[in-house]
Amino acid sequence: MSRSHRPRVLVTREIPDEGLQLLQKHCDVSVGARNRGMDRDELLSRAPDYDGILSMLTDAMDAPLMERCPSLKVISNYAVGVDNVDLKEAQRRGIAVTHTPDVLTDATADLAWALLMDIARRVTEGDRLNRAGGWKTWSPFFHLGREVTGATLGIVGMGRIGQAVAKRARGFDMRLLYHSRSPLPAEREQEWGAERLPLEDLLQEADFVSLHAPYTPKTHHLIGKRELQLMKRDAYLINTSRGGLVDEGALVEALRSGEIAGAGLDVYEREPEMAEGLAQLENVVLAPHLGSATRETRGRMARVAAENLVAELVGVGRSRRVRL
Ligand code: DGY
Repeated sequence: MSRSHRPRVLVTREIPDEGLQLLQKHCDVSVGARNRGMDRDELLSRAPDYDGILSMLTDAMDAPLMERCPSLKVISNYAVGVDNVDLKEAQRRGIAVTHTPDVLTDATADLAWALLMDIARRVTEGDRLNRAGGWKTWSPFFHLGREVTGATLGIVGMGRIGQAVAKRARGFDMRLLYHSRSPLPAEREQEWGAERLPLEDLLQEADFVSLHAPYTPKTHHLIGKRELQLMKRDAYLINTSRGGLVDEGALVEALRSGEIAGAGLDVYEREPEMAEGLAQLENVVLAPHLGSATRETRGRMARVAAENLVAELVGVGRSRRVRL
């Protein structure tokens, strides 16, 4: 492709070289800053000049933005989740939306497990206590947590990440329950001893409930006051998916009143803010949206997000389009 016909791409925030180099080979690329996201006004004023935008999950790719971008052909989201993109509007305008599935599955499943182990064994709480000089001596009843091995894990959303979490649970001899639109293949259910249940039943039986459903209008506040009341008083909630799946105000109440034992959270309804009172509670571990945050995974995400743009705009390679 001659230089003058190269597609123009806006990358809203610096991404790892694995992606930038590939993009620069095929497109004219303009890149946002490394140390801050592109604010809304800047995005609205720069976006109209481009054929493709490589967006972050913090960029609202909505109707007003698309309205200003007559030449926009593809939105390549640097994430697997696409709840920041108005998919219907993109479809109406013939704008392809792509994402980065598969490459972040293991990192996200690992983090779900890190939060589960942390909250069950009170590691971060113990760290806080230790730093404050609160540890006086070893004692039989000091800082007891919950045994993970042999407990019941309930997975809500058995897609790629849910399955990766389930796979890891086998090493802990856990009983596995899941709630999902489609069942696992029968052989997989058998191999894992996994049982598919309605959400209400899963919530009543699981010791740990881990959320892996996508965030859509249908899954908004999937876990609210009523669902938290259904959970066992000694059960834990883990969320590495999207904050909007959980009614955060109701969760604060449930954690405060002892309706559930604790929670491990990586995502929040209004990131980077958290519901009032959440950060004051001891029985919650609060990670700052780190699901895919390993050097290796972020590099692979950059490569896939770039490949998607090149495939859509230049016709070279394959694109991972979001299915509506
Ligand atoms: C995703 O890809 O949706 C993750 O939340 C990014 O960390």
